[in-house]
Amino acid sequence: MSLFRKKNVEHMIAGAQSAGLKKALGALDLTFLGIGAIIGTGIFVLTGTGAVQAGPALMISFVLAAIACCLAALSYAEFASTIPVAGSIYTYSYATLGELVAWVIGWDLMLEYGLASSAVSVGWSGYLQSLLQGFGITLPVALTAAPGALPGVATLFNLPAFLVMLVITALLSVGVRESTRVNNLMVAIKVTVVLLVIVVGVFHVTPANWHPFMPNGLNGVFGAAAVMFFAFIGFDAVSSAAEEVSNPKRDLPIGIIASLAVCAVLYVAVAAVVTGIVPAAQFANVSHPVSYALQVAGQKWVAGFIDLGAVLGMLTVILVMSYGQTRIIFAMSRDGLLPKALSRVHPRFSTPFLTTWIVGLFFGLIGALVPLNVLAELINIGTLAAFSMVSIAVLVLRRTHPELPRAFRCPGVPVVPVLAVASCLFLMVHLQAITWIAFLVWLVIGMVVYFGYSRRHSKLAHAEH
Ligand code: ALA
Repeated sequence: MSLFRKKNVEHMIAGAQSAGLKKALGALDLTFLGIGAIIGTGIFVLTGTGAVQAGPALMISFVLAAIACCLAALSYAEFASTIPVAGSIYTYSYATLGELVAWVIGWDLMLEYGLASSAVSVGWSGYLQSLLQGFGITLPVALTAAPGALPGVATLFNLPAFLVMLVITALLSVGVRESTRVNNLMVAIKVTVVLLVIVVGVFHVTPANWHPFMPNGLNGVFGAAAVMFFAFIGFDAVSSAAEEVSNPKRDLPIGIIASLAVCAVLYVAVAAVVTGIVPAAQFANVSHPVSYALQVAGQKWVAGFIDLGAVLGMLTVILVMSYGQTRIIFAMSRDGLLPKALSRVHPRFSTPFLTTWIVGLFFGLIGALVPLNVLAELINIGTLAAFSMVSIAVLVLRRTHPELPRAFRCPGVPVVPVLAVASCLFLMVHLQAITWIAFLVWLVIGMVVYFGYSRRHSKLAHAEH
């Protein structure tokens, strides 16, 4: 039974209420929060991979991925608002579903957030290099990408990706967090850049490039949807802010759906424009596909602006993802599931200094050494698995804890959570076999750590004796 030991829900709720976070966020703030966390490497970089896989039908892949996200986000929001504690779903599941499920979700999220910061740093590197090329600066080929990232090119180490992770880690370790003002500025930059692509690009579209629309059939479309899911990750930032929303019942669903809808519309338009300018197959091996399309169209200046906007805008995504990662490890360590040293707080900076640097160096190296498409698939499988678990948890909690106050209730229960699980699983089965193997290996390692270490060191275990 100790596998299902739980934290006390009432204590947590009381603790959260006394923490008294300001309830100041409205629907518009939430929408901005979502867009700020969502737009990044997915649209700027993976669009190239997606276009090769799905062809111009990439537009449909984006819609499919957005629908899956929307369903999952509604369940996520209920789960996140049931126990109004600032923190991730790891914490909520610990209180409601027990230690083992919480461990699996936490272990899973460590993979998601950690690898996502690596992946976005790789995307950032592609755009930085394109920007530098505009000024006639090129890096030695060996230092431009991970080994094997570009078939036929002898690359060894993605130096810019590694360096940007070091810079972000340094900022995080001394306590820099993204402020609302910076987020709003980044949203403005990213949305402007994306609109620029659409408005300028549309005049260079050759409709003949949209034929064949689905060169790899429906499988190509579904496979691309499973990859492009990455482009929407980050919307959980909206759900996680539940506690700071003034009118969660109304504003949370608006914030979630609006940020996903805005991004989906922008993404579909970008997919239409870039595959209309450049035949989809030509995007293979292009690390900055969106600005590349504008370069092909002869719009060198616009392409330069896109490079600059992407480089600036992606920085905050790396920051948000790395922050999420360090805080999950912090919470798991504080609960005794990971070694104590990982939740030690720096006396001067009040940050988990050691954890921040371990994580930053580790995932910096991963970004430097592992190709982006491998990273994206792994992140997606981890995230889709976590969202499926959350949707199931919503159904379980409605039965086991009907009395808990829920600031936000997922509409259409049980249909919406069931559809959410189904759509997450659907996308998961369209990921590559090697991704499944790597994910299962990660889960097995997690089980070994849990049964070898965490179970005995858990704070709750000590409380029981
Ligand atoms: N959705 C985020 C991105 O595309 C993770 O960079």
